[in-house]
Amino acid sequence: MQSTSDLLGPTHVAIIMDGNGRWATTRGLPRIIGHRRGVEAVRRTVKAAPGLGIRVLTLFAFSADNWKRPGAEVSALMQLFGVFLVSERERLVRAGVRLSLIGRRDRLPGSVRAAATAAEHATASGVDMHVRLAIDYSARDAIVSAAAHGVEATRAGFTRRLGAAYGEAGEAPDVDLLIRTGGERRLSDFLLWESAYAELLFVPQLWPDFGIADLTRAVHDFRRRERRFGTLGPASRPLRVVTR
Ligand code: IPE
Ligand code: IPE
Ligand code: MG
Repeated sequence: MQSTSDLLGPTHVAIIMDGNGRWATTRGLPRIIGHRRGVEAVRRTVKAAPGLGIRVLTLFAFSADNWKRPGAEVSALMQLFGVFLVSERERLVRAGVRLSLIGRRDRLPGSVRAAATAAEHATASGVDMHVRLAIDYSARDAIVSAAAHGVEATRAGFTRRLGAAYGEAGEAPDVDLLIRTGGERRLSDFLLWESAYAELLFVPQLWPDFGIADLTRAVHDFRRRERRFGTLGPASRPLRVVTR
């Protein structure tokens, strides 16, 4: 069934921001430079998204498996997250954007945890868009955690518990459009439950190169798709013959 919001565009866009390392290494630069340039792409995307009708933007910044990377890269990334959360706070408040973290917090450096909490409090009343930053995130872990809590074995109950597993008040929102940059065609343990009927878009651009034009193109691509959710779709509906 195609809802009005589908005709207008994707309400919830999730992005696997991949390719920072390759962006840097192909230029003979250290990987962390690619991550720094990736932060600029995050800023651009967050700024442009509300104008494209996006109300929820979930960004995959660091997976639970990314701890397996060299310590120096992990520390540099944690430092970038801390700086981003502090430096963006006021900008997000002014833009009416609410920011929250999804993922485990107990393994993050204290400074990142504190910066996240401060950003969440400062932006709590933002209503124009909700940015969910996935850090130390694993969809499988979130699903296991939601399954371990509560006994109400319904989809709605489970989806609420999944939201709660992220520290959110409501249900974990379904993804309309899932974009992965960097050319790989895999989900890498991101939003597995919420993407059950997501439209998938894999683009070759490396994340630091991803610009507003790419986001706009992705939204237009989504609008051209026909979502069916298991039905025969709106095009197949029989014409009602009006008789007098
Ligand atoms: C994505 O870029 C950012 C993180 C995983 C933190 P990568 O660092 O995975 O970049 P590539 O895939 O090696 O190019
Ligand atoms: C997924 O990218 C995680 C993020 C973009 C944060 P990875 O680069 O870690 O995924 P794999 O290892 O290629 O599957
Ligand atoms: Mg990668």
